[in-house]
Amino acid sequence: MGEKQIDAYVKKWLKEARQRIIRSFDDILYIQTKSDKSDLVTNIDKEIEQFFIRNIRTVFPGHHIIGEEGFGDDLKRLDGTVWLIDPIDGTMNFVHQQRNFMISIGVYEDGVGKYGYIYDVIHDELYYAIKGKGAYFNDRAIAKLREDVAVAEALISINASWLTRNYCMDASRLIQLVKDVRGTRSYGSAALEFAYVATGRLDAYLTMRLSPWDFAAGKIIVEELGGIVTTLKGEPLKLLEKNAVLVSKPGLHKQLLTYLR
Ligand code: IPD
Ligand code: CA
Ligand code: CA
Repeated sequence: MGEKQIDAYVKKWLKEARQRIIRSFDDILYIQTKSDKSDLVTNIDKEIEQFFIRNIRTVFPGHHIIGEEGFGDDLKRLDGTVWLIDPIDGTMNFVHQQRNFMISIGVYEDGVGKYGYIYDVIHDELYYAIKGKGAYFNDRAIAKLREDVAVAEALISINASWLTRNYCMDASRLIQLVKDVRGTRSYGSAALEFAYVATGRLDAYLTMRLSPWDFAAGKIIVEELGGIVTTLKGEPLKLLEKNAVLVSKPGLHKQLLTYLR
């Protein structure tokens, strides 16, 4: 299946999904919790995932799909073409703010990221990359991430949940980092935070636990621009597991790791 075809279909489906989501604002939203009170899912998350899966299965019947809400395949391997879909990344923002949520789609071929799309539905802004062909913001090429950024000049995204006891690392190690950077932010959508690193609006993003669909698209986009995406230990991400994630401009990554060790 040609490169242009996947790209054209995804862009068409994203626009259609946007219309569905915007229309849904007039209807009652059904909200459920999953693993805990902050892990939300709505009827729209499910509807949008099913919308993409229906379309992918029709046009690309040989492809495999992993979707957050479970309507895709139960895959143990990444052989062939695999779509990783987060129909609404930032569901809490969707529920509480009706903004700052993304549709995130990554397409991998034999485990290698080929196409990544992060769509800011409300702003109608698309961040995307095709491996080897560049990364784009609404069809404008995004410049490579070459700057060396000093920690003292860095704006990083980090979430207040680090203050609670966690199994990922001793959070007290982050105190020095938070003191040393220029500023911190938190947006509540991993995909948006990847997109912001890609476009230089953030210098780095670090987070304790992301699922494959949270980072599948962002990883492709950030790496296409020369950015670095690893675990908090500096290791490669496992694409079928949850990972603690550090996303950063290339010149900053090593410096940040020294705070996390
Ligand atoms: C969540 C968001 C959030 C991140 C969580 C994700 P969801 O995705 O990306 O920013 O901190 O780890 O699970 O549940 O809204 O799709
Ligand atoms: Ca998500
Ligand atoms: Ca989601």
